[in-house]
This record gives sequence, C-alpha cells and structure tokens, in this order.
Amino acid sequence: MNSLSQSVSMADLKCRAKKRVPKFAFDYIEEGCNTGVAVQHNRKMLDSLRLEPHYLEAYQAPNLTTHILGREYSAPYGIAPLGLTGLVWPQASVMHAKAARTANIPFVLSTVSTLALEEAAKHAQQNFWFQLYSPSDLGIQDDLLARLKACGCENLVVTLDVPTPSRRLKAIKSGLSVPPKITLSSVIQSTMRPLWSIATLREGLPQFANLTPYMDQQTMSMDDAAEFIRTKLRDVVDAASLQRIRAQWSGKLIVKGVLSVTDAQRAVALGADAIIVSNHGGRQLDAAQSPVQVLPEIVAAVGNQCEVMVDSGVESGVDVARYMALGAKAVFAGRMFLYGVAAHGQAGADHAIELLRLELGQVMSQLHCANPTSLVGHLVK
Ligand SMILES: Cc1cc2nc3c(=O)[nH]c(=O)nc-3n(C[C@H](O)[C@H](O)[C@H](O)COP(=O)(O)O)c2cc1C
Repeated sequence: MNSLSQSVSMADLKCRAKKRVPKFAFDYIEEGCNTGVAVQHNRKMLDSLRLEPHYLEAYQAPNLTTHILGREYSAPYGIAPLGLTGLVWPQASVMHAKAARTANIPFVLSTVSTLALEEAAKHAQQNFWFQLYSPSDLGIQDDLLARLKACGCENLVVTLDVPTPSRRLKAIKSGLSVPPKITLSSVIQSTMRPLWSIATLREGLPQFANLTPYMDQQTMSMDDAAEFIRTKLRDVVDAASLQRIRAQWSGKLIVKGVLSVTDAQRAVALGADAIIVSNHGGRQLDAAQSPVQVLPEIVAAVGNQCEVMVDSGVESGVDVARYMALGAKAVFAGRMFLYGVAAHGQAGADHAIELLRLELGQVMSQLHCANPTSLVGHLVK
C-alpha cells in the first residue's frame, strides 16, 4: 500500500516521522519550551474557535488564491522559517523550497538553516523569503542583506522573539545545542533509525550553510563554533536595530514574533510592511498568550497600515481557516512541514501543502465561503 495515501492528517505525518528519525530529532521538532504549556494553550485556543456556515448564500467553489505583499500565491499559507532542518532530514529545506515553488506558496528560509540562501533562492525562486536573526557583528548582517539582494529576495522577515535561547528541556538533556553536539545517546538513537543515518552519513553533518563565509565550520571545534554564534551572530532585536535594518533593506520588511498591540504599532512606525503574530509555536515563552487571543486587537489596531499574518499551532486546514476568520491575511506553519519531510521526504513536503489545501478547501465549501478573505464573516463571536 502506498504509505503516502495513509498520511491523511498531520497526526499521521507526525506518527510516521517519529518512526523514521532519531528521538533527538523528533523532539527537536515537537518540543515546546519549559513545561510545554504554551504549545497546549495554542491548541486549546484554536480549538475554541467556531465557524458558522451560511448555507443559503449562493454557492461558489472556493478559490484559495491570495495576495500577500503585492504578489499572488495559490493559497493563504506558507512555510515558516525553520532552523537546523538538516538534522530532521538531509536536504529538508531544499525539499521545502521546491515544494513551495511548485505549489506557489511562500517559503521562508531561516538564518540558521542548513541550506544556503543562494541555493534556496535557486530552488524557491519568487517564493523565496528570508528570516534574519540579526547578527551582532554588523559586517555580517550587511553582507547577508547584500547577498539576499543579489539573489533577488524581496521579503525579509526579522524575528523579534528570540532575545535568548529558550529552555527546551529534552534538547538540553540530550545535548542538542547550537551547534549540535554528538553524544553517546544521540549515536545510539541514530543507529535505531538506519535510513536517517545512511542519508545523514551520505550528506555529512548539517552545517549552518548561510554562515560558512563567516565561520569555518569544518575546522572549528564545537566550543569555538558555539562561542562564535554567541558573540557574533545572535543579537537582541529592539527598536534601534529594527530601524537600522529598515534603513539597509529596500525590500519588504516583515516583523515576526509580535504578541502585543504596542509592538505591532511600533513595528509599523519603524517601517514594517507586515507583521507575523506568533509565539514561535510555543517554543520561547511558556506563559505566552496564544495568537488567537491577540490577533483580533492587533488587526483592529494596525490592519489598515500593514499586512497582519500569523503562525503557531497550525495542524490542519481547519486551523488555517480559523486564523483567517480572526482576520489574518495569511498563515504560516512550521512543524507540519517538518513532519511531512521526516515522514516521506520530498513527497511529504508536497503532501503537507496539499493536505492543507484539501482541508482548507473542504472547510470553505462546507461554510459556503468562496475565498479566504471572506472567512472573517464566518467566525462565531
Ligand atoms: C524545529 C523548529 C525550528 C524553528 N526555527 C526557527 C528559526 O530558525 N527562526 C524563526 O524565526 N522561527 C523558527 N521556528 C518557529 C517557526 O518559524 C514558527 O514560528 C512555528 O513553528 C510556528 O508554530 P507551529 O510549528 O506550531 O506551526 C522554528 C520552529 C520549529 C518547530
């Protein structure tokens, strides 16, 4: 039986992913920070949203076409930035980039991805966006922005919500740090997943491909690499650094990790073209509000000045519909796409996109809702 046909939900992708990748890689995808309350809270708040059908409205087959920042996409959802994807499966980001290009949805490459931005741009073409973790070494930052411009990137996502590494407890215990360390237990876990191990051995240990011009990862010791990342790469983003990035970057600027009206208004005042309301999928602040709780007031406050997008907790097209009904212009998902690749490789990346399309289309048909922007009229208040 074709295993892909048995993956009919994110839960199926996740279940198969768990059997194919070592425990530390699965935990890396799944885990939230601290006690995991923020992850549960995201789920609970999305589940609390109800949508109402309008059966006596004239029925039109749903058309998922969406305009984001002046470009037409085939659906109102995209692939969120994901760091260290090569740990989940070699070439995972290449698979995401190709799948996004084929399906015509946004693909956001993380600064700490294991795929170089030039390669990502080649695979994703106009669907390529880049997420910046602002380097404290401004020379590196300027160079990254110049490289992005040179490969035609139009959309830069600046992530606000990682001022400090989060406490993901399983990752801390398994030694999964940045950069990743090889421990006895990770070796044992890897031997139990031979397909993953063969693929990884063939490809070599994942590296931060965007950063190779600035750090020699082949010869650096783990400790030196960790020190380099701590001192040169990670900086806390605040208004001053955002202002500097805005002055440097002539393309569209998207600010990710907004959870308050105050930050949304400041981001707009500093020149953001869009924001992504997000609690990082519950991976940074265990006591964070769910985007469900703050999205409506943020849309009311700045929705006429910038495009308001959202992520965190999306497990299905129903969740995409829920966020759109709350007023989001577009929705991103992270884990769903990693489970797709971990479960089925390239076919899984394509399949995760297709699952969201099928589910969202089905919900919209059920509601008699012809296009994603009309979903707001179906929210039960
Ligand atoms: C494994 C993993 C790695 C991530 N790496 C990054 C990153 O490098 N940069 C970033 O801005 N967000 C990162 N995120 C957060 C996602 O962009 C997104 O906000 C989150 O995954 C959305 O929640 P969801 O996974 O429930 O869909 C990561 C998330 C996961 C699961």
